[in-house]
Amino acid sequence: MRFVVFLFLLHAILFAEDFITKMEYAKMLYANPRGIGCNLCHGQKGEGTVIAKYKDKGKQKELRAPDITKTSREKFQQAFASTHTVMPRYFLTNNEIEMLYFYVTSEVNK
Ligand code: HEC
Repeated sequence: MRFVVFLFLLHAILFAEDFITKMEYAKMLYANPRGIGCNLCHGQKGEGTVIAKYKDKGKQKELRAPDITKTSREKFQQAFASTHTVMPRYFLTNNEIEMLYFYVTSEVNK
């Protein structure tokens, strides 16, 4: 009997589904990337948002975070290798950057 239970557990461990899917992980990372969430500036799906509206010498202006759903993989990676004026500097692994890219460019996300 014990052996059967052991076999059952072994089977359950070896063939278990991943705890969360790749998409679930990528979505979580997008909202909580060890720093301020990407969603707060680039929108829930990376579609881009207006961060602020202001007047400059009487002219109405907008500060925007761009749409990143169609950004090339190269440009996407470059955004993490440089400093910006508005966007914070993140220290993410290549795998994490790849996950974020997967999330914003994924069709499931649309
Ligand atoms: C405080 C607001 C803010 C946050 C938070 C933020 N961004 Fe940005 N991001 C910007 C702005 C503004 C730009 C465009 C100007 C610039 O490059 O600084 C930008 C540019 C980018 C670009 C380059 C787009 C292009 O076409 O060249 C990518 C890719 C990007 N962000 C991805 C992300 C990801 C992924 C996160 C989360 C890890 C994130 N950003 C968090 C504001 C933000």
